[in-house]
Amino acid sequence: MDMFKKLETERLTLESIRLEDAKILYEEIFNDFEYYKFYFQLPYKTFEDFFRTIQKYQEYYEEGNHFIWGIRLKNNKKIIGIVLLHGKDKLNNSCKIGYIISKQEQNKGYITEAIKSVISFCFEVLEIHRIEANVLPNNLKSIKILEKIGFHYEGLKKECYKINDEYFDEKSYALIKK
Ligand SMILES: CC(C)(COP(=O)(O)OP(=O)(O)OC[C@H]1O[C@@H](n2cnc3c(N)ncnc32)[C@H](O)[C@@H]1OP(=O)(O)O)[C@@H](O)C(=O)NCCC(=O)NCCS
Repeated sequence: MDMFKKLETERLTLESIRLEDAKILYEEIFNDFEYYKFYFQLPYKTFEDFFRTIQKYQEYYEEGNHFIWGIRLKNNKKIIGIVLLHGKDKLNNSCKIGYIISKQEQNKGYITEAIKSVISFCFEVLEIHRIEANVLPNNLKSIKILEKIGFHYEGLKKECYKINDEYFDEKSYALIKK
């Protein structure tokens, strides 16, 4: 069963990621390790690795375990970021959410808009009960977004995020279906 669902918001479409989108995402986001390393992890070393990772995530739709969407602006069709659901726990109906957007498109409300729609999809279509988000304590912007949407703080996970052989704590947030 193909579970992939294209989502639409006022200014954005959330779509599957094609090769040409992946090239842009890699150039504008995922190749910029120095800027993004404190925020996001995807295991890849080259563009080919990166694209294979994206493809693998897209294949997981079949199993309903991983979902990844490219965020595209409706006005100029540009791909600007991704939202992803991972770590789906079928026994307990829970999953984790991650998101990232290119530097030049930040602070325009796009991620808030995109993840609200993914959260609705999660609760209404996937029938997920609990969504978790883990954030580095210095990522104040991401924390603000989560709190604004209604996620509650559950505690500090000790040394669970590894960057260049160093371990960092993460704050854990969750949103429960009402
Ligand atoms: C975090 C990130 C996803 C936010 O995306 P975005 O599209 O810029 O987010 P939005 O515009 O929807 O919302 C940003 C909010 O943070 C607020 N904000 C901006 N800088 C801030 C700061 N230093 N401290 C607190 N809040 C801040 C903005 O005012 C805005 O809130 P508002 O809508 O109430 O005004 C983006 O910066 C990013 O890609 N960062 C790197 C990857 C990352 O951190 N991913 C999340 C991992 S948990």
